[in-house]
Amino acid sequence: MPDVDTAPTHDWNGDSGTRWAANLARLDVMLEEFGKAAIAAANARPGEQILDIGCGSGTSTFPLAERLGPDGYVLGVDISEQLVEIARAAAPAGAPVEFRCADAASAPLPAGSFDLLFSRFGVMFFDDPVAAFTHMRRALKPGGRLAFVCWRGAQENDWVRLPMAAIRDIVEPIPADPTAPGPFAFGDRQRLADILAAAGFTAIDIAPFDTSISYGRGATREKAVDDALDMAFQVGPLARALADQPDDVREKAAIAVRAAFAKRPGETSVLIDGAAWIVTARN
Ligand SMILES: C[S@@+](CC[C@H](N)C(=O)[O-])C[C@H]1O[C@@H](n2cnc3c(N)ncnc32)[C@H](O)[C@@H]1O
Repeated sequence: MPDVDTAPTHDWNGDSGTRWAANLARLDVMLEEFGKAAIAAANARPGEQILDIGCGSGTSTFPLAERLGPDGYVLGVDISEQLVEIARAAAPAGAPVEFRCADAASAPLPAGSFDLLFSRFGVMFFDDPVAAFTHMRRALKPGGRLAFVCWRGAQENDWVRLPMAAIRDIVEPIPADPTAPGPFAFGDRQRLADILAAAGFTAIDIAPFDTSISYGRGATREKAVDDALDMAFQVGPLARALADQPDDVREKAAIAVRAAFAKRPGETSVLIDGAAWIVTARN
């Protein structure tokens, strides 16, 4: 067994993308407040040209486009063919949006053409983040803006902290490199600031954003806890930790994780703590 798990954990044009697509409605509920905060920080204005990085199904692309008027334009780029197809199908008629299936770290982008690079949780998966952000910054106009939301550390986010602590004695944890590409790659504020500075950004601002996440919903408290359990088993670090485990281990894990979620407040939802960075910078 390796000392540190260095295997790629996300296959966005495969299993991760399929799981995201299958859980889209509840992931959008979970991420809604974070997306609103990032869009407010981005302050998109009529007529602007925007690149939405790792746009997924377009959940952030469409509200950005609404702020732009007929002369604006949002290009959503995502590496998952499946999610790009969903985004294209969901685009309101006449909306100034376009979607491209590509790796944002290397996709040909017109130099100096965007006013804003935006992302809702789509920028933490680059193998070489400095190279990726340098590449994307070149597509910004001089003085153009960067605005995105990403997770803080795993220990501050209940959607991973609670289930992973609950299975600690059931499945032997493999220590993960906290800086490896993945949801928590930018948990360390100084590392994130260094990456953006090395990529050539200035006026870097990294502000904490904390909110209560509605993780799991149902007509009754019992159903909401069941829904939270199902979600944790389908998407995220718990799903990956249990993927190759036998049924008896998965059953034990389900009991422990259910008990952990049941301790959280909420009537028809399970309310857990979520912690993100709202990041802004300039070219
Ligand atoms: C956590 S999901 C967020 C999706 C969407 N922004 C949202 O908030 O619903 C991360 C997204 O980043 C995309 N992604 C990961 N690496 C990428 C890359 N190198 N280039 C483009 N998209 C990427 C994934 O396919 C996935 O859709």
